[in-house]
Amino acid sequence: MAEKYLPYGRQIVDEEDIRAVADVLRSDWLTTGPMVERFEETVCRYVGAPYGVAVSSGTAALHAAMFALGVAPGDEVIVPAMTFAATANCVVYQGAKPVFADVDPATLLLEPDTVEALITPRTKAVIGVDYAGQPCDWEALRQVADRHGLALVADSCHALGATLRGRRVGSLADITCFSFHPVKHITTGEGGMAVTADGALARRMRLFRNHGISTSAAQREKAGEWFYEMTELGCNYRLTDIQCALGMSQMRKLETWLARRRELAALYGSLLASSREEPAARPLDIKPGVESAWHLYVIRHPQRDAVFRTMRARGIGVNVHYVPVHLHPYYREHWGTGPGLCPAAEAAYAEILTLPLWPGMEDRDVTHVVSLLRGNNIL
Ligand SMILES: Cc1ncc(COP(=O)(O)O)c(C=O)c1O
Repeated sequence: MAEKYLPYGRQIVDEEDIRAVADVLRSDWLTTGPMVERFEETVCRYVGAPYGVAVSSGTAALHAAMFALGVAPGDEVIVPAMTFAATANCVVYQGAKPVFADVDPATLLLEPDTVEALITPRTKAVIGVDYAGQPCDWEALRQVADRHGLALVADSCHALGATLRGRRVGSLADITCFSFHPVKHITTGEGGMAVTADGALARRMRLFRNHGISTSAAQREKAGEWFYEMTELGCNYRLTDIQCALGMSQMRKLETWLARRRELAALYGSLLASSREEPAARPLDIKPGVESAWHLYVIRHPQRDAVFRTMRARGIGVNVHYVPVHLHPYYREHWGTGPGLCPAAEAAYAEILTLPLWPGMEDRDVTHVVSLLRGNNIL
């Protein structure tokens, strides 16, 4: 009999979530209604940010952040090479240039010194990525940004619930972006949110998600008005009430799911550490003072490709996060990037493997994954 496929990540949706969605479907407002604000308030309260702007994806949140900060043609924005393409694409959407920074080989996070070395008079902002759920050193990045008058954006699409020295991700950068894609910590199907402590930035992001039009249909209806004006070029990046209801219901389970992610990660860590004196499969380092949100469990292995094939053949949905962005054909062709630009990210890319990690997994799933690695002599 074929073994059950174990994906690297997946959502959990229960009856309470389904009821919350069905209630909205029976209500008057499917979009731009009351659920949007309630979801924004719930996430803001949790992450410790005064303002939240719910949008249709994490990518939309990053794009809205770039718009709100006034990133424009002629500007440069520093981004890590080891991330999903969306982190850099949002810069290009605004006509600006992404400048790729290499990452720390032990954590795959953006390092303040590397950022500082890439700053030019054109640099407008820095986007750090909380890779795999581990927060960047936002305090050190903040010092660099302040020294050079730059905006600091957190791509925390991996890190809802992570903390740095007791402070939750969401309150550590000028704008923090989250994703609610099904493999993330909570889901709205597709969805995202940009949070900030700056009311003016929040207003600009709200404008941007609604075509650059200053009032929503709901506000006009309430005020008995029809007139509206488009003051900026925006997008339709709205998140529906249907999705926000799902998100609110999912938020109730977030702490339990985070705790389970942490337990499973600790189990992987102890099993991998006890496998051999010098195991070939090495987890990434977690820095002191950090509580990761454990979006991904990433190991490095010198025979990564062989391990990937063996594990997939046994029904384990291992994956690779990520192809360094500067190696994608689009960036090579249009921005002249290529191999050699970010050696640590490129060396990591040859070795990284994401093992399954999501809160619906049982301890025995982790034991099974590690015993397959061990049984195939690939530990
Ligand atoms: C680091 C990072 N940034 C941005 C995104 C984009 O999020 P979304 O898929 O919600 O657009 C992702 C999605 O996986 C991501 O991993």
